[in-house]
Amino acid sequence: MLSPLENLIELSWRAVLARQDCRSGRSVSRPPVEPLSVGRLESRFAEEFPVLEYLDAALDLASNCELSDLASALCPALDQVRWSQNPGYTEANVSRSLLDGYAYAGLSGPDCPLLCEVPRCGYVLLAPGVTYQDHNHEPREVYLVLTPGAQWCLDSGEWFDVHAGDLILHQPWQMHAMRAGDQPLLAFAAWLESGDRKAIQI
Ligand SMILES: [Fe+2]
Repeated sequence: MLSPLENLIELSWRAVLARQDCRSGRSVSRPPVEPLSVGRLESRFAEEFPVLEYLDAALDLASNCELSDLASALCPALDQVRWSQNPGYTEANVSRSLLDGYAYAGLSGPDCPLLCEVPRCGYVLLAPGVTYQDHNHEPREVYLVLTPGAQWCLDSGEWFDVHAGDLILHQPWQMHAMRAGDQPLLAFAAWLESGDRKAIQI
């Protein structure tokens, strides 16, 4: 019997593996779990982030879209997760809008409920109108979008629309940014190789 958290992880990966990158058509494989004996802190945890006022709206939106099963699986897992931000993001390098408008619920990873080195995965929430500015990192990354109305930008190029159910693959060190429209953005995000979250370059 899977816990709500384990069930959410399994359903999320199943949905990733059933899709191809919406731009290149490439598919991804689920990385084998690399164990971690002792957790290490890579996150700034807090009981409350301002963006969490949009969580219910995001779940409502997602429950009417293609990946409604993931929204349904996320709800019972919420009391097993802790929301966090990257501690490398401060007012010196990101906007106040982003600090107030994003949070990440880690599911598996070095300081997540399911401790492992790989794969790091979780859910990202962005408030309406917030841009998660250009950044990059070495591990490949997939995003699976649960809500409508968001836009993405790769290699600092033109913004393009993404839809609920879209999969986006970021290659090593590929610059990427995303922004929510007039509704919150909720997405599953996973790194396919090991890496330190604090090493994200933004
Ligand atoms: Fe990323």
